[in-house]
Amino acid sequence: MPRLHLLLVLVFIPTTVASPRNLRLSPADIAVSDTAADDTPITYIEVDRPLRPPPGSSGPCSTLFLSHSFGFTYTKPPVTAAYSPPDCLVAAGDGASAISLAVLEWRATCRGVQFDRIFGVWLGGVELLRSCTAEPRPNGVVWSVSKDVTKYASLLAAAGNSTIAVYLGNLVNDQYTGVYHANVTLHLYFHPTPATTRQRASATSPADVIVPVSRSLPLNDGLWFQIQNASDVESASIVFPSNTYRVVLEVYVSFHGHDEFWYTHTPDGNGPFREVTVLLDGDLVGAVWPFPVIFTGGINPLLWRPITGIGSFNLPTYDIELTPFLSKILDGKAHELGFAVTNAVDVWYVDGNLHLWLDATSTATTASLVSYDATRLAAKTTTSQFDGADGQYYHTTASQRISATGWVASSSHGNVTTNATNTFTFENTNAFTSDGGAETVNQTTIAYAGVTVTDHTGAILYSQTSDQSFPLYVDIEAKQMTSHTANVTYTVAREYHETTVTAGMWWSGATPPQRRYLRNAQIGAVDVEMRDGTAVSATWGTRQTYRREAPDGCYFRNVTSRGYGIVFDESNEICPKESSAAARGEGSEETSSS
Ligand SMILES: *[C@@H]1O[C@H](CO)[C@@H](O)[C@H](O)[C@H]1NC(C)=O
Ligand SMILES: *[C@@H]1O[C@H](CO)[C@@H](O)[C@H](O)[C@H]1NC(C)=O
Ligand SMILES: *[C@@H]1O[C@H](CO)[C@@H](O)[C@H](O)[C@H]1NC(C)=O
Ligand SMILES: *[C@@H]1O[C@H](CO)[C@@H](O)[C@H](O)[C@H]1NC(C)=O
Ligand SMILES: *[C@@H]1O[C@H](CO)[C@@H](O)[C@H](O)[C@H]1NC(C)=O
Ligand SMILES: *[C@@H]1O[C@H](CO)[C@@H](O)[C@H](O)[C@H]1NC(C)=O
Ligand SMILES: *[C@@H]1O[C@H](CO)[C@@H](O)[C@H](O)[C@H]1NC(C)=O
Ligand SMILES: *[C@@H]1O[C@H](CO)[C@@H](O)[C@H](O)[C@H]1NC(C)=O
Repeated sequence: MPRLHLLLVLVFIPTTVASPRNLRLSPADIAVSDTAADDTPITYIEVDRPLRPPPGSSGPCSTLFLSHSFGFTYTKPPVTAAYSPPDCLVAAGDGASAISLAVLEWRATCRGVQFDRIFGVWLGGVELLRSCTAEPRPNGVVWSVSKDVTKYASLLAAAGNSTIAVYLGNLVNDQYTGVYHANVTLHLYFHPTPATTRQRASATSPADVIVPVSRSLPLNDGLWFQIQNASDVESASIVFPSNTYRVVLEVYVSFHGHDEFWYTHTPDGNGPFREVTVLLDGDLVGAVWPFPVIFTGGINPLLWRPITGIGSFNLPTYDIELTPFLSKILDGKAHELGFAVTNAVDVWYVDGNLHLWLDATSTATTASLVSYDATRLAAKTTTSQFDGADGQYYHTTASQRISATGWVASSSHGNVTTNATNTFTFENTNAFTSDGGAETVNQTTIAYAGVTVTDHTGAILYSQTSDQSFPLYVDIEAKQMTSHTANVTYTVAREYHETTVTAGMWWSGATPPQRRYLRNAQIGAVDVEMRDGTAVSATWGTRQTYRREAPDGCYFRNVTSRGYGIVFDESNEICPKESSAAARGEGSEETSSS
């Protein structure tokens, strides 16, 4: 067995962005085992639904935000461009409410050898997209990301000039030659109906104002905060409009360096549990238990070619209902909104956007916090040994509940009471043999968020429940084949699973419940053949199924890749008659077989 250990050490050549567990191979190492034919640029994809404007919409009206080649951009200022609402949006004459769909498109090419790079796109300090680049190949790669940014309509339509900023810290030298050539484009679609039939303003439409909770330009970095350890709190000072009647904080988060693979950490790396906490003037008001995004250079980069990991090109964001806490922030004074990461190891990139709904006919709303209850976070790791003294087994569990209720009185909606309750559970097992021959991580994060808005009689005006679960399975096995050869197999399975049910409009509860269901399940494996400690060849493949069911459309895709080829691809936009995925069984047949 010591032989295996030696081989693994040789596979896991540390790189400039190495994690302590060396779950990264450099692009140069990968080139050795990537023996696939390589004569044309390859298109990489993240499996996602196509974005369709509502029926009758006009458009798209497309505007190139910026076009740039990201060469040596590390520690340089973000690339910026001036923004003012496109002429077609101004001509639509109805401000933000003219927009039926807004799509931000990132399209890029790269050729050569390069690491995956994290990047962000901000408009007026508000983050619109967090993403990771595809790792290139000598003859090039091309990929694009389209994100629905309709919820930022007020920002897109705001009169006056603003600034678009893109930070993508890339390093170019003799060995890492890849320059990322990228275009960022906004596509707008417009409602067919004229302004006079405009929907009544509602807290279920895009927010009236969006306020960034990020760092301000100028700086030589992204606008995100960098959280480096468990005691690090990074915050922004915010003055809230005093006629705010609803607040939702949207959080962007990504993890890098020593915490890129936090879910594999043992107690000496602060264990595998991580939680982003949101602090308002130092008090805990919300939390994010993140989906374990794996970037395109993670674990084994071949796993993410050509089908990239869930969320890697379009990182998930997390919404936190802060309306019950309005009484703390309506005084016209500055308040500190901060982020921390429980158990953090260097480094987490976190920022947020405050989506604010304002009372149209008053300059001030009044509010009071009625109840607040945050159970202490329970997190513990137990360690045990198996396989004689050779194996270590870690079991970590955590749970948390944050519940707050408050009323707000406005001229638009009267006196309404909002109850926002979030519960989280987390379980992680990590088994590995002490000689480094095998490691298996199995983790599940479950998050529930419930929001109920009631009037003075207790009648429900709006309700939303969201159930998310994020299973993760990572397995690395090394097998000695002959005295000179060994095979290392990496298997990664994940799911992004979310069901959201909403009902009511804030001014009336009399709308039927709307259910949105998403189950995105991916399993991939790569076999690397080693000879005398050097990777000589590899075979790999991915299977993914994506199913979305929602009132605005359904989408199903089932796709399989082998090496760089797509060998099976089936999709449709049929909504099942009986829209109950639960009844059909939401078992994880894709992830249990491999
Ligand atoms: C960016 O846009 C320019 C001008 O339309 C085009 O020539 C170039 O090929 C585009 N680049 C990418 C990566 O799409
Ligand atoms: C906005 O920018 C445009 C183009 O750069 C410029 O012509 C215009 O004067 C600016 N408007 C304001 C209000 O600064
Ligand atoms: C945590 O990070 C902050 C910000 O970089 C730094 O000021 C502080 O010294 C660090 N604390 C510890 C215990 O390392
Ligand atoms: C709003 O309603 C709550 C009870 O639901 C009540 O305690 C509070 O006084 C009311 N506020 C105003 C301004 O009427
Ligand atoms: C808020 O909702 C949660 C979950 O439904 C419930 O357990 C809690 O009792 C409610 N709080 C108040 C003050 O009504
Ligand atoms: C992961 O653990 C869950 C229980 O927490 C179990 O149901 C599941 O089968 C495990 N997955 C694998 C692949 O072992
Ligand atoms: C070892 O890895 C190579 C390359 O991926 C593969 O072709 C071969 O089938 C593997 N052998 C075994 C026994 O898994
Ligand atoms: C996806 O396609 C594979 C064939 O490649 C099939 O075995 C599997 O059952 C399909 N999955 C679903 C959910 O349709």
